[in-house]
Amino acid sequence: MKTKYLIILGVVMATFMASCYPKASQVIRSLPVESKAQIKAQYDQGQLAQGQQLFISNCAKCHKLKDPESKTPEQWNKTVKRMIPRAKLSDEQGKLVRAYLIANAK
Ligand code: HEC
Repeated sequence: MKTKYLIILGVVMATFMASCYPKASQVIRSLPVESKAQIKAQYDQGQLAQGQQLFISNCAKCHKLKDPESKTPEQWNKTVKRMIPRAKLSDEQGKLVRAYLIANAK
C-alpha cells in the first residue's frame, strides 16, 4: 500500500513540475532578438552587474564559463533561450543574465 501511495505522489509531483518549467522558459523564448544598443537602453549598470553575478554563479555548473565576447549579440540571443531554462533561473534572473551577455558580446 505504501509503495502505491509513493508512486501516485511521484506522478503528481512530476506533472506539477512539468507544468512549471516550460512556463518559466517560454518568457525567455519569446523575447525578441535585440541588439547591444537596445539592451543598454533598457538595463542600467547595476542590473548588468547583477546579471554578471548570476552568470558566474549559475552558468559554470555543467561546463566552463563561456566568454561573453565569444559570441555576437545575435548568437547570444539564440543560446540563452536554450541555456537559461537549463540553469533553472527565474524569468527575471534570466533576463539579467541575457542582458549582461548581449551587452558584453563581440
Ligand atoms: C544543466 C547544465 C547546463 C547549465 C546549467 C548551463 N549549460 Fe550551457 N551547455 C550545456 C550543455 C550540455 C552544452 C553543450 C550541448 C549544447 O550546446 O546544447 C552547453 C553549451 C553551451 C554553449 C555553447 C553552445 C552554444 O549554443 O553556443 C554556451 C555558449 C552555453 N552553454 C552557455 C551557457 C550559459 C550562458 C548558461 C547560464 C545561463 C549555461 N550555459 C548553463 C549545459 C548547461
